[in-house]
Amino acid sequence: MALARVTVLASGRGSNLAALIAAAERAAGPWAVTHVVCNRPGARALVVATEHGIATTLVDHTTYASRADFDAALATAIDRGEPDLVVLAGFMRVLGDAFVARYAGRMLNIHPSLLPAYPGLHTHRRALADGVTEHGCTVHAVSAAVDGGAIVDQARVPVLPGDDEATLAARVLEAEHRLLPSAVTRWCIARARSLPPEAGR
Ligand code: GRF
Repeated sequence: MALARVTVLASGRGSNLAALIAAAERAAGPWAVTHVVCNRPGARALVVATEHGIATTLVDHTTYASRADFDAALATAIDRGEPDLVVLAGFMRVLGDAFVARYAGRMLNIHPSLLPAYPGLHTHRRALADGVTEHGCTVHAVSAAVDGGAIVDQARVPVLPGDDEATLAARVLEAEHRLLPSAVTRWCIARARSLPPEAGR
């Protein structure tokens, strides 16, 4: 099976990136994280990638005059890694329509809520404020609407009595670390099945 090249975009801690790398190494295919692109100098995600010998590129959004300029630089960096799939794993920038269109059908995002509930920021705080009994995370295709693309998969966790934002976030994050690698694996297997038999040989 052709090994799919996955480029991960991250902005911070990189725990979802680490979960992806661990899963790819454990399963030994059908995909590998081959490139990590980050918009924040000093982000832990860059360290995680480097520790695993994965190529990194920094595209610091503060050095671009406009979002369009940043998006163009980001696309150039991504394309250099020749990815089959782009995964946003804690990538905290809103992307423009042209950028989203360029990667249509091959870009996934992990979001810490059961979409369509709680798009945007502070999802755990908002879920607690509403008194919901169930929360979770979603992997979805990236579309022009923020956190609005087609849902690929979700994982549910209970909201327990006494939960605060930190305990709930930790429970959801554990679920994210299982959901994202499994969604990427399924995406890559589906892609491999749709390729002509000679591809990747
Ligand atoms: C995750 O909760 C992700 O769903 C959200 O930002 C957080 C990133 O965490 N978009 P990490 O950088 O993967 O540790």
